Amino acid sequence: MRLSSRKGEIMNSTNKSNKRSRTVKGIITSIATREGAGFAVRRPFPTQSLSLVDPFLLLDHMEPVTLAPGAAKGAPDHPHRGFETVTYMLEGHFVHKDSAGNSGTIGPGDVQWMTAGQGVVHSEMPDEELLDNGGRLHGFQIWVNLPAKDKMMPPRYQDIPSANIPIYESADRKVWVKVIAGKSMDKEAVIDTRTPITFLHVRLQPGASLSQPIPPQYNAFAYVVEGKGYFGKETLPASTDQLVLFGNDAEDVFLQASDYEPLSVLILAGLPLDEPVARYGPFVMNTQNEIVQALKDYQSGRMGVIN
Ligand code: FE2
Repeated sequence: MRLSSRKGEIMNSTNKSNKRSRTVKGIITSIATREGAGFAVRRPFPTQSLSLVDPFLLLDHMEPVTLAPGAAKGAPDHPHRGFETVTYMLEGHFVHKDSAGNSGTIGPGDVQWMTAGQGVVHSEMPDEELLDNGGRLHGFQIWVNLPAKDKMMPPRYQDIPSANIPIYESADRKVWVKVIAGKSMDKEAVIDTRTPITFLHVRLQPGASLSQPIPPQYNAFAYVVEGKGYFGKETLPASTDQLVLFGNDAEDVFLQASDYEPLSVLILAGLPLDEPVARYGPFVMNTQNEIVQALKDYQSGRMGVIN
């Protein structure tokens, strides 16, 4: 595949999208739903209007909330097989434990990239402090599909503390890019992905813009974490909790903050797998038979238990 040689361009507010900018294929508003033991999330997909953005299967936004003591909820012991879960925290701490004996805490700015592969049972819970005393919580979980050849690979974990994640900041401090996967500007991510993925957290000050080159064969979208911005060749508006799906008609993902408020956006892009997707709850395989096998393996304890 051809990787872009251009590293990204920053523009001031008078510049607009250019002929290398991707068009906007759709703008999807998240639905409000509940996950795990009942914590509230905003979900742009999978929904009625968008089932997946190959290779991405799900995006859950745990919206910023201040929780009362005892109100925090998580996702107690549950299995996964056939894909990867990526957790990115902005506020609060989550504790993770799994059947492979791994455990850890992720806090503000940290990323956990878990490759479930053939299967794990894990729990994702608020830490004791948040459970007992309440506090702020804000984060994301993204599911990344694995190609058929990797679906039964051994599980693996990449826990990346915020301090180890490269950040680009423009000299005028109007453009900030955290490079979680892939490349932006002169920064390259430390994480290892199974298939080519770009995952950036971009913060733009009012009026600032960014043209991020992404190979045209990658599917790409932007998710507005907070603020209002203008996206794509058409500079279409989108705001908090909306997903902007880009076409594969050009290279650059263009975004610009409004003149009045900062913009916080996740950019996700990846080479599509173009394989059949059979999904049932926490299992994502290629065929129904493989889903039935996953259920059997889980029920018979072959994905392990958390000690
Ligand atoms: Fe999970």
